[in-house]
Amino acid sequence: MGFSMRYLDMKAKIREIRINAIKGIAEAGSGHPGASFSAAEIMGVLYFRILKHDPSNPEWSGRDYFINSKGHSAPGFYATLAVAGYFPTDEMKNLRKFGSRLQGHPVRYSKYLENHSLPGVEYSAGSEGIGLSVSIGIALSNIIDNKKNRVYVLLGDGETNEGQIWEAAMTAPKFKLDNLVVFLDRNRIQQDGFTEDIMPIDPVRDKWLAFNWNVIEINGHKIEQIMDALNKSGQIKDKPTIIIANTIKGNGIKHMANNPQWHGRAPHHKQSPLLIQELEGDYMISPSIIAGEKENYEEKIRKAERAGADMIHLDVMDGKFVQNTTFLADTIKKLRPITNLPFDTHLMIENPYEYIHEYIDASCDIITVHTETCNEEQFICIRDKVLSHGISLGIAINPETKLPNWVFPNLNSIDVIIIMSVHPGFSGQKFIPETTSKIFNLNKILKNHGFKGYIEADGGIDASTVQQVYDAGARIMVAGSAVFSNSDINSAIIQLRHKTNVTLERNLLRKADENNIRKDWLVARKHILIPLANELGIEDEINEL
Ligand code: DX5
Ligand code: ZN
Repeated sequence: MGFSMRYLDMKAKIREIRINAIKGIAEAGSGHPGASFSAAEIMGVLYFRILKHDPSNPEWSGRDYFINSKGHSAPGFYATLAVAGYFPTDEMKNLRKFGSRLQGHPVRYSKYLENHSLPGVEYSAGSEGIGLSVSIGIALSNIIDNKKNRVYVLLGDGETNEGQIWEAAMTAPKFKLDNLVVFLDRNRIQQDGFTEDIMPIDPVRDKWLAFNWNVIEINGHKIEQIMDALNKSGQIKDKPTIIIANTIKGNGIKHMANNPQWHGRAPHHKQSPLLIQELEGDYMISPSIIAGEKENYEEKIRKAERAGADMIHLDVMDGKFVQNTTFLADTIKKLRPITNLPFDTHLMIENPYEYIHEYIDASCDIITVHTETCNEEQFICIRDKVLSHGISLGIAINPETKLPNWVFPNLNSIDVIIIMSVHPGFSGQKFIPETTSKIFNLNKILKNHGFKGYIEADGGIDASTVQQVYDAGARIMVAGSAVFSNSDINSAIIQLRHKTNVTLERNLLRKADENNIRKDWLVARKHILIPLANELGIEDEINEL
């Protein structure tokens, strides 16, 4: 029961969840950003890839059910429904308004309550601790009626202080509800404090195991881990599954992350453009394993994963399109079981449309072909094969190559565009400075054409060049020698992130000036800015706060 992921498309959609949620909350002047953001990946993966559902027919009898028991995550939940197609995202501006169907806590959809309830909402949430019981009723009736519909639940960790949760936790295994999957949004914060201070619930895992549940524990912000856990839960018989998703409350906005203050508090609406810029500024580091010592790819992948890489960059070279040879699909196939991290596969081979199936079979998550190696017709053939397997498709252009015209009508199916910042063929080459303005110009053109994907900068990216490509619009940074020629891979990746974060903060300060909210922003952002104050040249300002 493998689910197709199309990783980067899902990342982009989840980014939209956070952006639309914060727009609604800032506009309303109230709402819960913390929970909306901690559960964004969970809700995104369910609605964009897993749930059987139909936004044009919200009461379809064959649908799976999603019961959001932590009702205060409503802004994130509504934004997920909107991005999934249940209603226009523009309606998020009506959050918490009188007469709006986007109330502070969700109201179960009813065609008799068209103006007060949203299509797609299965359960009226508010006071917590009840959603699991309701889900058990639905799951049990589905089993009794021999229906295959599955039931997914989102629970808060503070919510499990409720006694009713444990009555329900006893009940579900009794009835062998293997059609029930619960996500515990383990963000360790409830209301104005930390769960372990207010009402300790650890060891969470042991509790649910003792209640005879199938328990899986993951990083709740890693799409690939959520997908893997759901794949596994689908194979469990005669037991309900709980997925303990370790998350960060407010994840996505640095000064809100893991900060109880932002449980139920709204940012000033003037800060909205800065928060949206930060969310659009979310970036990924993709270490290239051909760099550094020869081969030893397995070890490099393990080290990169431990060091917090977001994906693994696989440079496939055939010795024809480029002078160098590295590895082909068979090697990737052998490396696949080592990690769940997405494989960002960069094909530098001639006639990729002849070999594309091999890279599909090797379970690559992103497959990028060079426009210099295929024409439009061949690209269409590649596109159809790659997308039909739920894989993200990318195109790459060499430093001197312009984006071919045939790319623009296909932008909807392209999730990443690699702009080579070296001539392809080897790692360890010098960054070509002209690439920065190329990224900047293309980023603008692509945005004007509605491109929702990512620009990836590849070649010569290190601590001295990462800031300019990020500033120009790159959101995926490939780093080969900067990572693997460094004896300390951890600090190499930390340094790349640090440099990128300094650029992000500098841009946000500039935006704060443009919106005349510098002081308020400094106050809101103080604990994030203090460690960077020297590099940002704002030490005095921070000290005066
Ligand atoms: C070059 C490859 C790059 C390269 C990156 O053709 O596409 O991915 O390996 O290595 P560095 O970061 O060392 O330039
Ligand atoms: Zn590459």
